[in-house]
Amino acid sequence: MNIKEQTTELFGYEGLKRVLISENEIKAAVQAEGRRITEEYRGKPLLIAGLLKGSFIFAADLCREVKIPCELGFIAVSSYGDGSVSSGRVDIAMDIGRDISRYHVVIAEDIIDTGRTLCEVCRILRERNPLSLKVVTLLDKPERREADFNADVSLFTIPDAFVVGYGLDYGEKYRNLPFIAEAEI
Ligand code: IMP
Ligand code: MG
Repeated sequence: MNIKEQTTELFGYEGLKRVLISENEIKAAVQAEGRRITEEYRGKPLLIAGLLKGSFIFAADLCREVKIPCELGFIAVSSYGDGSVSSGRVDIAMDIGRDISRYHVVIAEDIIDTGRTLCEVCRILRERNPLSLKVVTLLDKPERREADFNADVSLFTIPDAFVVGYGLDYGEKYRNLPFIAEAEI
């Protein structure tokens, strides 16, 4: 079965070109990053902050690979709406609800595209004086960068393609795919 037949049969989805990153590749990378975070933040107050909705699966998997005490927070920003083109405006729709000045904060992000979202989110969070602030992104599309922003850690660098799965959506669909696939848009 090719990817189209598979996703249609297993998930009822159509319109996928190819699998870019498999479930096993994601798992291995998330495990390794969890181990790295475990060592870097041992003995420190750690808060992992996921950006909703795209990073909900990444944050959930990553925090389970972190083997030291940590807290979880979520921030919801809207910059994309339902389409695939960055609006350039970032609104915080749901804030983290914590005094982050007491934590080393690790932002877990699904993908950095233009970089505008993270640039703005980090600016806002830095004003609150966290003990430290780092960004870990699952995916990075450096070719599309417009803002002067780079993650501290990026697990996979991908070409300029629109991807879905493992939390990432196109029009709110495809988030439940366990792998990253290129969408036909
Ligand atoms: P940026 O502000 O352009 O870096 O956009 C980041 C946000 O855009 C991500 O958190 C995603 O929600 C969304 N995004 C960017 N590229 C893709 C993609 O290829 N597939 C799905 N969502 C994407
Ligand atoms: Mg999105």
